Amino acid sequence: MHNKDCVRVAARVRPFNKRERDAGSHCVVSMVSSSITIADPRDSQNRRSFCFDYAYWSHSGFTRDQSGLYVAEEQGGRYADQDSVFQDLGEGILENALQGYNATLLAYGQTGSGKSYSMVGYGPNKGLVPKLCNRLFQTIRENQETRQCQVFFSMLEIYNEQVLDLLSRGSRPPGGLRVREEQQRGFYVEGLRTIPCDSDAQVEQLMEQGTRTRTTAATHMNANSSRSHMLIILQLKQMFSKENVTKQSNVNLVDLAGSERQRSSSSEADRLREGTAINLSLTTLGHVISALADVAVGRKVIHIPYRDSVLTKLLQSALGGNSRTVMIATLSPADICYEESLSTLRYAERAKRIQNRAVVNESPTERLVKELKAENARLLQRLSRLGQDGRRASDETKELRELLTHNELQIRAIQTMWEQHLQEALRDWEQQYASITQERRMMQLHPYILNINEDAQLSGVVKLFIQEGEWDIGLCDSSPKSISIKGLGIQERHAVFKNEQRRVSLTPTAGSKVIINGSAISQSTELQHLDRLILGSNSTYLFIGFPCERGGDDWSRYDYDYFQSELAAAEGIHLGESSGGSRQTDPSLLAVFYDYIKLMPMVADANQMSQELNKGVEFRLEIKNLALSDSKGHDLEKEIVVRVNSARTKQVWLWSKTKFVNRKFLMEEVYQQARAEQSEDTTLETTSALPRDKDPFWDPVEPLLLGTAHLWLQSLAFRIPLEEQLEVLGSEGTEEAILQAQLVPCSSSGLPLGEDDILIDPCELLGRRLDFQLVLEQCFGLRWIRDARNRGVQIGFRLFDCTQPLYTPAVWHNINPLLDHRVHFASLHTSQRLLDYLQSSAVVLELWGLQEGCANMSSSLERVRTTADEVFIIDETANTAPTDSAEDSCSVRALQQDLEELKVINTSLSKENQSLREQLHTARTGGESVRGRSVRPSCDAEFARALKVFYHSMTSVRGQLQRLRRHRPSEESDLLGLRLFVDEHSRLLRDFSEQLEQCVSTLKQDVAAIVRRKRERSGVWS
Ligand SMILES: Nc1ncnc2c1ncn2[C@@H]1O[C@H](COP(=O)(O)OP(=O)(O)OP(=O)(O)O)[C@@H](O)[C@H]1O
Ligand SMILES: [Mg+2]
Repeated sequence: MHNKDCVRVAARVRPFNKRERDAGSHCVVSMVSSSITIADPRDSQNRRSFCFDYAYWSHSGFTRDQSGLYVAEEQGGRYADQDSVFQDLGEGILENALQGYNATLLAYGQTGSGKSYSMVGYGPNKGLVPKLCNRLFQTIRENQETRQCQVFFSMLEIYNEQVLDLLSRGSRPPGGLRVREEQQRGFYVEGLRTIPCDSDAQVEQLMEQGTRTRTTAATHMNANSSRSHMLIILQLKQMFSKENVTKQSNVNLVDLAGSERQRSSSSEADRLREGTAINLSLTTLGHVISALADVAVGRKVIHIPYRDSVLTKLLQSALGGNSRTVMIATLSPADICYEESLSTLRYAERAKRIQNRAVVNESPTERLVKELKAENARLLQRLSRLGQDGRRASDETKELRELLTHNELQIRAIQTMWEQHLQEALRDWEQQYASITQERRMMQLHPYILNINEDAQLSGVVKLFIQEGEWDIGLCDSSPKSISIKGLGIQERHAVFKNEQRRVSLTPTAGSKVIINGSAISQSTELQHLDRLILGSNSTYLFIGFPCERGGDDWSRYDYDYFQSELAAAEGIHLGESSGGSRQTDPSLLAVFYDYIKLMPMVADANQMSQELNKGVEFRLEIKNLALSDSKGHDLEKEIVVRVNSARTKQVWLWSKTKFVNRKFLMEEVYQQARAEQSEDTTLETTSALPRDKDPFWDPVEPLLLGTAHLWLQSLAFRIPLEEQLEVLGSEGTEEAILQAQLVPCSSSGLPLGEDDILIDPCELLGRRLDFQLVLEQCFGLRWIRDARNRGVQIGFRLFDCTQPLYTPAVWHNINPLLDHRVHFASLHTSQRLLDYLQSSAVVLELWGLQEGCANMSSSLERVRTTADEVFIIDETANTAPTDSAEDSCSVRALQQDLEELKVINTSLSKENQSLREQLHTARTGGESVRGRSVRPSCDAEFARALKVFYHSMTSVRGQLQRLRRHRPSEESDLLGLRLFVDEHSRLLRDFSEQLEQCVSTLKQDVAAIVRRKRERSGVWS
């Protein structure tokens, strides 16, 4: 019987987490019945609605009861708890399985969106899997009379396309288990342990065991479990003795890897495979779902890429095949997760269209038993016929009897197999159970350390007890007095725990890294209950003191983020939290902070791998644009980047976050391989000699942006020249160099204008030609070259509407290089837009660092317009009407140029005309007053000069303001430090206000003097 079944889809929103609450997040998701609407936080009119089979509101309206269960605040409230999710989804899955259908449940969503919460659950808030098993065994018990049931349980993980059996206790085969294909069975994992179970307690214990294996695997492989998929397979076999029917079904329960997409804006193409195999399974799943959704709407699809990844091979029947499938899409309703949540909803919408064809399955084992029984019946008939015939065919009889016995043995073997397996599993389980009981007892007696993992689901799984006496902790496992741990940067004997007189202390051994509560220690340190330990590069543990110290404290706040935030705070990076509670932080800063703490342990790992593989590179986190601003002086968007330094070659790279994450994954691969090869008697570093083009630690060198300086353009609007010594500031506010630069208003032929050309009102420029030169004279004290002489620099800049940046020629090996670079710009008809720009903006001068072997930065002049004598034309768009063809635009430009030249001639002619008229006038009125006027400058010129002085002094005031803005207290400042800071700050503020006062009062005095003189003159003249 074939049925067309659409994949059923549910969406679930979780409560805000700490990060989201800190960010003062707003909820952008709303739900009405099973429809869900998401609004763009930047444009609330932009809304998208989706309709699914179910929608669960688990965001608000709940409370925690005494047993720790999250329940609706009021009866009949809209909050969807674990029970209601189970009632809809779990019961349906179970019902299908009991009917003999294969069934699949997939959890899809961004990291931390609640997939594991829904599937597995936390503490008393049990998820779908344990609830489903509980109900399954309950049903089995209730129906014992009518059917005999067998349940087999398997649990596996797919990480980087490798399958790991989470229930196997033997050694792991290198490369993981193989996925094979058989005509009848389809794809399956060869050698996967399937464990017979007959109670939900047994299943829960197996899940615990699986989680433990997952945790240790993650530590050993130094991997992030959010990038792995977890699959639980329940095989259910039901034998209905009365009806003589056997039904068999497979239930796949899949907790998928976090679905975050790589952000397109910050991800530049990496030389090495982008994303790599880590996302292959998830990406392929997306492709399969899209292809199947297309099939469902009648589009032609040539190929469905099931075979492209391990996950899609194993889920082939779940997607478009013989299975009834449900997907739960989990999301955060916070505005900062909008993009990810929208992408999850779109994904779920595609999945909704997939059509499966589920059938009730008949068991091959049962068929075999049936066939054997039938054969036996035939054999018996033949035997009795032989007897009746009275023929002495003893040979044939013997043969037939042997066959009969063999068949009966086979039947019995098949029937007893289950019983035996179950007994074995139960014995195994009892042993495990005993060890769990033992662990619980130890917890009541001794202090211990508890593992804390990035994935909350894996935290608290490993407990290492510190009994009385001295205990080595490290890779060592030979001595009886040792605690064995694995992880990057863990030494053979890493540290020593001492438990004496009810005090526990920890002493690192020489050269090993131990951090307690964010600070590195080198000496014996007494531990307090709930201290945070980081051993090696990133093995994180929480210390649980003696039972009497414990009380009822909530340890859940010491999660992975807590450890990393504490470490970041010790490095001076923290969120400003006022003592009165958490203050809302700028969301963009918060995002940078969380990126920082997310990357910090990864950078520690990368450094450890680099060191062990002798790669000679060091990674360091940096906040890009921390101290930099744009051409208007506004802060630039901050971003985390990773600076990579080669100690040997002095080469430097800057990697984006995405590139680093990608590379870190590739480094892990290289490292694992080197370690595997190391066991074959070679050292880590020699085996790791990879060809450069495959080496994730290496890249071709590129020019590096070292810092920027701002040259403010306001003086140009008055045609006042400007000469400046500019501070070039690095991303984090360090002084990279001093740059001498000038702005020179000039004539169209490049001759500097005089004081008489200074304007009082910039509007006089409107519609007229403006020429000026940007002069970059010299750099002083280049830090980049001081650090390594084999380097060079270039300066890049872009002005107004120039589409391409221009660069000075490269200068090498010199700390104080002469640049002597002059660029002439002209606006043919100065527009209001250009005037506004000049009055409010700066040209940002970028200092680029060159390294040996990298190409220079070159100005691409393709779309930049220049005149024959290399004047760069700006401010064109406002004046040129759009033209149809290139030819037209050329002729228009030529005409404009002619017009321009005519205008210039016209102006000079009218000037000449004016002066001739004046001469004529003087000749008429006598020479006296003319002489007087020629010696006394005009009031306008005096005014212009006063303005010039004013703008010059304002430049230094602006410099002082910048210094004030950058002046911040050191992160480690104590009270005294803060006092000193406040004193210094007040001094700077005083200087600033004095300078400003001085400027304004000089201007006032000058203007007053000019006005007075003007009055006097008008008095003389009247
Ligand atoms: N519906 C919910 N109610 C209460 N807390 C929740 C809910 N969903 C998730 N959480 C909490 O959010 C945190 C992250 O959830 P979870 O571990 O399920 O995320 P995940 O999607 O499995 O992430 P990953 O991809 O990293 O495995 C956990 O601390 C969990 O307790
Ligand atoms: Mg999870």
